[in-house]
Amino acid sequence: MRTASSLAPLMFMVAAGCAATDHAGHASHEPPAADGRVAVAFPEPLRTHTLANMRDHLLALQEIQRALAGGAYDRAAEVAETRLGMTSLRAHGAHDVAKFMPEGMQAIGTAMHRSASRFAVAAADAGVSGDTRKALGALADVTAQCVACHAAYRMK
Ligand code: HEC
Repeated sequence: MRTASSLAPLMFMVAAGCAATDHAGHASHEPPAADGRVAVAFPEPLRTHTLANMRDHLLALQEIQRALAGGAYDRAAEVAETRLGMTSLRAHGAHDVAKFMPEGMQAIGTAMHRSASRFAVAAADAGVSGDTRKALGALADVTAQCVACHAAYRMK
C-alpha cells in the first residue's frame, strides 16, 4: 500500500499538469495539456533575456520582503524602484520587448512598473511612520500584476 509520503511526488505531478502516469507512477512522454494562455513569440536573444529578467523579478521580491522584515524600508524602496519600477524600464530593454507583446500584456507590464514605483513611495513612508500596512498592500498590488500576466500569457 502506498503511504502518504510516497504519493506526494505523484500528487505534485498531477498538480503540475502531468496527469498521465503509468502503473509504476512514471510520467509518460505526452505533450503537456493545452492551457488557455496566449502564447507570445519573442525572438532570441530577447526571449532568454526576458526570462532571466523574470527570475530577477522574483529575486527582487524576495529581497524586498527580507528588507521589510528587517525594517530596512529605504532598501526595500530602492530594490523596488530600480529592479521593478519605472526606473528599471531602460535597464530591462523594455522598449525592445514591448513591440512583441500583445496590447493587454503591455498594459499589465506597465501596471507592474507603476505599482512597483508606488510601493517604493509607500515603503519610504513606512520608514517615517513605522506603519507597514500600506507598504504591504502596495507590494500585494505588485505581485497581483505578476499573477495577472502569468495567468494570461506564456512564451512560445
Ligand atoms: C507583462 C507580463 C509579465 C509580468 C508583469 C510578469 N511576468 Fe513573469 N513571465 C511572463 C511570461 C510570459 C513568462 C513565461 C511563462 C511561460 O512561458 O510559461 C514569465 C516567466 C516568469 C518566470 C520563469 C522564468 C524562467 O526562467 O522560466 C518567473 C520566475 C517570473 N516570470 C517571475 C515574475 C515575477 C516575480 C513578476 C512580478 C514581479 C513577473 N514575473 C511579472 C510574463 C510576465
